[in-house]
Amino acid sequence: MCGIIGYTGVKPVCPILLGGLRALEYRGYDSAGIALSGCTLATVKRAGRISVLEEALAAGAAGEKVESACCGIGHTRWATHGAPTDENAHPHATPRLALVHNGIIENDRALRRELEAAGYTFVSETDTESAAKLLDSIYGACGDPVAAMLGLDGRLSGAYALAVIFADRPHEIYAIRRDSPLIAAQSPDGVLLASDIPAILPYTRSYYRPDEGEVVRLRADGITFFDANGEKTHPLCTVNWDVEEAERGGYSHFMRKELGEAPEGVRRTLSPLIRDGLPHFGMPLLDDLHEKKGMRIVACGTAMHAGLIGRTYLERLARLPVAVEIASEFRYRDPIISADEPVLLLSQSGETADTLAALRLAKANGVPTAAIVNVIGSSVAREADAVMATHAGPEIAVASTKAYTTQAAMLALLAVSTAYARGLIDEQEARARTDALCRRLPEALEETIAREAELEAFAARLAEAEHVFYIGRGVDYDACVEGSLKLKEISYIHSEAYAAGELKHGTISLIEPGVPVLAVSTDPAVAAKVASNMREVRARGGEIIAFCTPATEADIAPNADFCMVLDENDTTLAPLCAVSALHLLAYHVARLRGCDIDKPRNLAKSVTVE
Ligand code: AGP
Repeated sequence: MCGIIGYTGVKPVCPILLGGLRALEYRGYDSAGIALSGCTLATVKRAGRISVLEEALAAGAAGEKVESACCGIGHTRWATHGAPTDENAHPHATPRLALVHNGIIENDRALRRELEAAGYTFVSETDTESAAKLLDSIYGACGDPVAAMLGLDGRLSGAYALAVIFADRPHEIYAIRRDSPLIAAQSPDGVLLASDIPAILPYTRSYYRPDEGEVVRLRADGITFFDANGEKTHPLCTVNWDVEEAERGGYSHFMRKELGEAPEGVRRTLSPLIRDGLPHFGMPLLDDLHEKKGMRIVACGTAMHAGLIGRTYLERLARLPVAVEIASEFRYRDPIISADEPVLLLSQSGETADTLAALRLAKANGVPTAAIVNVIGSSVAREADAVMATHAGPEIAVASTKAYTTQAAMLALLAVSTAYARGLIDEQEARARTDALCRRLPEALEETIAREAELEAFAARLAEAEHVFYIGRGVDYDACVEGSLKLKEISYIHSEAYAAGELKHGTISLIEPGVPVLAVSTDPAVAAKVASNMREVRARGGEIIAFCTPATEADIAPNADFCMVLDENDTTLAPLCAVSALHLLAYHVARLRGCDIDKPRNLAKSVTVE
């Protein structure tokens, strides 16, 4: 997604803007630009990486302002309307103002027609230019930045975080958000605006989050929030990450670092939820889940995959019916939902547009909502009736790894809590399972990740593949779905996950000599069946790489060309070890293919548009 940075204070603004944009690069982008304040605004923007913008500035594109300006805004754009070109890059400016935008203006076409009829001309294909020209018109009529921003908010529909500097208001920045993240922060040398926390970390770890539709004014003397009724105040939030944590920590990629942090993330996530050796979520909606007739988990991508394995845990142990929904489908299919079936949203960023919309749909229908997010203070966290934090730490790589594992671990604990409350397991078993999740799971994950050399060898067999298939049954199919996505999104190899028993109903026609098939089998109850499916694949020349446990090894290993025996038999923990292995495998395949692992093409860390 797009990145926004703004600063006004006593220090030269250019280095701060460029550093902030670099801190936001992980969000995915294809162009970048800055605007510098003063009686005439200097706007410099270029398609491509931030280095292209830096070269333009070094060549004098901003004139003498590049040294003297102390107020400005910056932007990295992830294209939604129009190709990545200089013209389509932000900021979009008029003689009165410069504006940057994260999100999507849905009534862009109507606004553009209205503005053209009023005499405005357009130079870009973007929806953002309509917002800039509309603000220009409103501000030209009223002359008051706060009123103009509120007026703009009343005319736009869609999701947006906007930052603006006005030519006649040097040293001031104005912003407004609706369904798109934005934070404001005070530092010793000035005030900052950003779309995400890493951009402010070098200056401060405290920040404010404006509410939807509030105008934020940043001046050297501080930060002020306004709504239609006047000034507002907000509590100060504090980042519990430090800069080092948000850096790579010596790893070549954020993904490899974060994948290795999954075990500690599980420890940090679960320990606050344990009281006297038993699960205690401390919120009625979840502590009383046993009284509900069911639950719906709604999420996107990898978060949805965590929901899949969570469903297996909850249905298998707690006998709680759980439906898992893709948020972008849920929000438009007019779902039949009711108050006695709470909706649980899973989201690492807490800003995914479809997940946020699903949350709002559930609330609008009177359905209790809970959220599991990794970013405290995010939109999903603020709007859900109840929120639980995964303490995975900052997840910078676009490919989500530790967030998945901590989400799944939390759902496994919820299954124990609910099963115990329903009397399906006794206290002794509840304690044993809780201890296994809090103590043994992180250890088992560390042991799996330590076997990296084996996974690198497997990766070498996949690096040249055109198609890779993943097969498993039950919870292992849930693991395959996540493993397949991870391979696709960072190595660009086509991959499909299949319920092992389903392969013979069509897709097996694609299996020909040399096609790699990854088989995951951690459940002894169906290992023999999976072994049979593996034989069907091998009979057609497919090459099997298997992941099994000591309990399934006898069935699985003889039917595999290559096999990794995970050192864990517990049928709750072992699938998560398998996923960690598949995450690490995908990482090494992408590394061997020379892919941009942390910033895969076409992807963004937080998809804040539909
Ligand atoms: C994960 O590897 C992907 N980058 C993507 O599927 C992601 O999980 C999805 O966009 C949901 O993001 P969220 O967890 O921040 O809501």
